[in-house]
Amino acid sequence: MNTVDQAIKLVRNWRRHRAVIHPRTAQFMYHWMRGSTELPYPPLKLHLEPTSVCNLRCPMCPQAIDAVKGDTGYIDIDLYRKIVDEAARFTLEINMFFRGEPLLHRRLSELLRYGSQKRVRMHVNTNATMLREREARMLVEDGATKVTISFDGPDKAMYEKMRKGAKYEVTLENVRNFLTLVKEYRENGRPTPYTVMQVILPYDATQSGPTLPSHMRDLLAGLPVDEWDPIWPHGWAGVMQENETVDAQPYGENYHPCNWLWKSLAIYWDGRVASCCADFSADQVIGDLREQSLMEIWNGPQMVALRKLQVEGRYQEAPLCSGCDAVWTKESSSWNLFNWAEKWIRPSDMPTGRLQGHSHGAPVVSPIASDLGPQAVAAVAAARNGFSGPVPVAIPASSGPSSNGRAMPA
Ligand SMILES: C[S@@+](CC[C@H](N)C(=O)[O-])C[C@H]1O[C@@H](n2cnc3c(N)ncnc32)[C@H](O)[C@@H]1O
Ligand code: SF4
Repeated sequence: MNTVDQAIKLVRNWRRHRAVIHPRTAQFMYHWMRGSTELPYPPLKLHLEPTSVCNLRCPMCPQAIDAVKGDTGYIDIDLYRKIVDEAARFTLEINMFFRGEPLLHRRLSELLRYGSQKRVRMHVNTNATMLREREARMLVEDGATKVTISFDGPDKAMYEKMRKGAKYEVTLENVRNFLTLVKEYRENGRPTPYTVMQVILPYDATQSGPTLPSHMRDLLAGLPVDEWDPIWPHGWAGVMQENETVDAQPYGENYHPCNWLWKSLAIYWDGRVASCCADFSADQVIGDLREQSLMEIWNGPQMVALRKLQVEGRYQEAPLCSGCDAVWTKESSSWNLFNWAEKWIRPSDMPTGRLQGHSHGAPVVSPIASDLGPQAVAAVAAARNGFSGPVPVAIPASSGPSSNGRAMPA
């Protein structure tokens, strides 16, 4: 990728993330590059799942291999209010999704209204299969500030393969009706959510990045799509690196700590908190909002330990991070910036995570996930990267084991 491409990509990413552009964003970047493990600022954004239940089984998503297992439920409204009351003091945006389909929560309207009354930006990501008139009005009227619609594949055949359980014509009709409503509201000068069409395309090694097929724009010609977002699939921390339909993009060859640990937390429907929104099987549960506050968890012993492992390049010692593609990046604007700034910002007496002598670079080829289950696949991915697999270490007595009984770092 040349410098112009990189600059374009950087600008595009800033546009997408502008809800969280704030003086605190600079603080986040500084502490990520510096390798701070306790942070003097709160999380910039949250993923909060109204439900872990989904009506589809998309083959590139961990739902397809039953990674959620029996851990299904819907957030209780009082617990939700408690979380939002605290988050509203500092969080810039709540992503109202994580493992499931948000439109399945029967009280989503109440959840959105509560968040927006507290002046939090509410982002809903939906597969749009159930986006009928009532749901469309709810998204437009009840305070969603951004709606991302997952509409994958360049055509009907690929869409129905990738969105297993959905019907192309039904979803397309839902999307058109939703955008028509947005258009009406805009013509009347009324506020509407920012609209994003996210399109997952099969990975193509011959291209430098995913390109939106031009006919897809024609499908929604004249309707207010604020942003088209073509992406290649990622491997959900190694768990879905290979699947029956679309391979994830290969791991990059450059290591940097995963910046999610410096900017965000992910909350399950029952109040448990994960370090990252790739954690469908609750491998790295770091707290519980039924008993703790967000800020206690954000700088709690487990989150601090995870950041330290990443800064020191020992990410393979954490159960979920061990297979993760987010720490391995291709030559990119984000890696170049990190690499340059780290030299200036990181104190000279601090260890760095440079994995010297480590010959990462070959794409990780994990077995078809459904044959093995998510934990086994993460371990295989780690082993193929030259690691001996997750190394369990003791956990602080007060923190308890992660919900599935796997050891977390101390
Ligand atoms: C897990 S889904 C939950 C929200 C909702 N059910 C949906 O599909 O939009 C959250 C986001 O992850 C995306 N996603 C699923 N598998 C992916 C993959 N392998 N790579 C990149 N994004 C993926 C979905 O398209 C969606 O935008
Ligand atoms: S990507 Fe969304 S719609 Fe598809 S299975 Fe996962 S959670 Fe469900």
